[in-house]
Amino acid sequence: MDWGMKNRLSKLIAKDGHCFFMPIDHGYFQGPTNCLEEPGKTIVPLLKYCDALFATRGVVRSCIDASVDKPVILRVSGGTSMVGKDLAHEGISTSIEEILRLNAAAVGVSIFVGSDYEHETLMNLSGLVNECERYGIPVMAVTAVGKEIGKMEPRYLALACRIAAELGARVVKTYWCQKDFDKVVRGCPVPVVMAGGPKCDTEKEVFDFVYDGMQNGAIGINLGRNIWQNPHPVAVAKALWAIVHEKKSSKEAFEIFNEAKK
Ligand code: 5RP
Repeated sequence: MDWGMKNRLSKLIAKDGHCFFMPIDHGYFQGPTNCLEEPGKTIVPLLKYCDALFATRGVVRSCIDASVDKPVILRVSGGTSMVGKDLAHEGISTSIEEILRLNAAAVGVSIFVGSDYEHETLMNLSGLVNECERYGIPVMAVTAVGKEIGKMEPRYLALACRIAAELGARVVKTYWCQKDFDKVVRGCPVPVVMAGGPKCDTEKEVFDFVYDGMQNGAIGINLGRNIWQNPHPVAVAKALWAIVHEKKSSKEAFEIFNEAKK
């Protein structure tokens, strides 16, 4: 692996091999998502507890201070919306020049395996890998499921993750599943990071699934709504940091959460 690629990955993945990415990219198809109306304000108290931010170029430019000491993973796919025909119909939104200009540590692109736009989104990933590898920029593939979030199961996730890795993603972001998540991770030859999904009913559920996923081979998390839509975002972030980077259990994380929210 080239020095530039290694250097960028080392900014995203800590020395313990784990990572905590904070996604604030939801607006690219959801508009002003609840609690992310002003992304620049939302992230200020949370920055301390994450390793990197995941955001679009628009939010990076207009809402993030350029002196921020966290690396940025640039969301570079888009072109669809919640009210449009098909969320899967994404293209690549950002040029390689812009990726370099914004000093991105990595880029993120969604793939929609099994959708009407499977081929297009897989070719988006492949083309992006071709461009980014030339400059030592890691590509994170996001195995997206559009509105069918309830239908995720291990066989599907394993398929999507493996395809993403085969096409050249350096990191794959996917959803945790209760059964056989270890098989999803084992079948993917590059590191797997867990996405969050819509807000869970309780904090305990979040800590439980993150802990389980880490035990079963994920290297970290890319969690947004379950953090910044919680009434105590800093306490949730602190507790998750403890699971990801301090080897704490779900139970210990819950205690950290309860202590921090006081
Ligand atoms: C949106 C994304 C988000 O980064 C991802 O869904 C993680 O955020 P959340 O934890 O809120 O689901 O890729 O397409």
